[in-house]
Amino acid sequence: MDRQDSIKVNVDGVRGFGLRNVSSHASISEMDDFDLSKLLDKPRLNIERKRSFDERSLSELSIGLTRGLENYESTYSPGRSVLDTPASSARNSFEPHPIVADAWEALRRSLVHFRDQPVGTIAAYDHASEEVLNYDQVFVRDFVPSALAFLMNGEPDIVKNFLLKTLQLQAWEKKIDRFKLGEGVMPASFKVLHDPVRKTDTIVADFGESAIGRVAPVDSGFWWIILLRAYTKSTGDLSLAEKPECQKGIKLIMTMCLSEGFDTFPTLLCADGCSMIDRRMGIYGYPIEIQALFFMSLRCALALLKHDEEGNEFIERIVKRLHALSYHMRSYFWLDFQQLNDIYRYKTEEYSHTAVNKFNVIPDSIPEWVFDFMPMRGGYFIGNVSPARMDFRWFALGNCIAILSCLATPEQASAIMDLIEERWEELVGEMPLKICYPAIESHEWRIVTGCDPKNTRWSYHNGGSWPVLLWFLTAACIKTGRIQIARRAIDLAESRLLKDGWPEYYDGTSGRYVGKQARKYQTWSIAGYLVSKMMLEDPSHLGMISLEVDKQMKPVMKRSSSWTC
Ligand code: GLC
Repeated sequence: MDRQDSIKVNVDGVRGFGLRNVSSHASISEMDDFDLSKLLDKPRLNIERKRSFDERSLSELSIGLTRGLENYESTYSPGRSVLDTPASSARNSFEPHPIVADAWEALRRSLVHFRDQPVGTIAAYDHASEEVLNYDQVFVRDFVPSALAFLMNGEPDIVKNFLLKTLQLQAWEKKIDRFKLGEGVMPASFKVLHDPVRKTDTIVADFGESAIGRVAPVDSGFWWIILLRAYTKSTGDLSLAEKPECQKGIKLIMTMCLSEGFDTFPTLLCADGCSMIDRRMGIYGYPIEIQALFFMSLRCALALLKHDEEGNEFIERIVKRLHALSYHMRSYFWLDFQQLNDIYRYKTEEYSHTAVNKFNVIPDSIPEWVFDFMPMRGGYFIGNVSPARMDFRWFALGNCIAILSCLATPEQASAIMDLIEERWEELVGEMPLKICYPAIESHEWRIVTGCDPKNTRWSYHNGGSWPVLLWFLTAACIKTGRIQIARRAIDLAESRLLKDGWPEYYDGTSGRYVGKQARKYQTWSIAGYLVSKMMLEDPSHLGMISLEVDKQMKPVMKRSSSWTC
């Protein structure tokens, strides 16, 4: 089938917009059991199909319960459906917003087929744009919201095809010039080439060897594991994850990120441009975006790995790493008013185990803006921590994933939401959501970005507003019981997205302008909106992308006493 044909079929397939009425999904209640102490002698996962959330997930979802009640926001309680929430009222009288149908149509138009099977969605379907670059490829990270939308709509096949196809690509030998990449690396993107004469389809993949700046995507492998769990959780079909090739795929990714070397931190050392922010933006080191995804994928791997001999070895290593990583992140990446004040008063040049200022951060390096930005109520995980360097910027994806994976404690999760509320103008403004805050300007921009004209202040990765981030925010809101925030954000997006042609990003301090070089009909902007709508409509979908609290994890210790444990 050539591309024209495949598009025709897709368009035909969207009559009625393919919006299925899926009221409930299987959920695997046992899958997220995260009792570290019992893990090694736990029997094989026992799968149970249930309607919607099981009681435990509902009660654990309600970490915002107390404040939710105080603040008139929606809450969840065991044994009931969602009470007094917009979702419940809408559930009985569900009338999709007019742009929902348009979004489904656009999403289906972006489908990519390999030998007649849908295997992904292209990054952008923007015919008006003069340069295609690689926006006609299936990006692993970009496909995640598409996959979630299809899963939520009861269409898991495309997700399964995608997972298997990318797994085959992982097995390729990957080289940049003469240098071979780790076996487990997953591609940033791939493209299906259709030969209409020979009637053959072939795939070309990019592991960083063609990417601008030659950056390898650290996030792709993590997203692959997270998506495999979402698929398994949503369908109840464990057979895919149990396939030997899938188990091997997980292990290859784990082997790469659990390997021991010179590191003194449990966080993962990364090059600049290794994630959604795939150009030089000063995120080299230990970026929060990657650390949060790393943590989440470790937990997902734990749920997916078989408990055979080899599996158990991995499980043991993962459990150890999770302990160290959560301790490190919760202690050293966390910033709130108190912590900021403590850092401001840090002594420097402390030698020995008793040091409070372990990384020798010089208080003078704290940027001015952060003193005004930090509210009395709220906090967040900062962008990066390494010797004498704290990147105080706020990053959306990392903080939302920290909530969804429970890297953030329940208190930290509420504080992150408090901060978003308190700093609404700065972080949401007129279009959810800023990718990071604040923008880098002038001399700092020259040094940090290498004078990147795409990443000028308040544009693109440098403080631009990305509609795709709406689904992360919505999921975090549901998890913390802050539905009202999600509704406000979705209303903002709805008022602009269709009218503006589903841009990739917006520019400006409040995200008012369609981005300078933003693609139109950017697939993840479209899918992200649909996922947000469906999750709000039926919050039980959240279980696909959210993990439950690990009751066994030790509470974080005070900085000054940490050296003893
Ligand atoms: C840009 C973005 C990247 C995205 C890709 C495809 O390179 O920076 O995050 O995956 O476009 O949309």
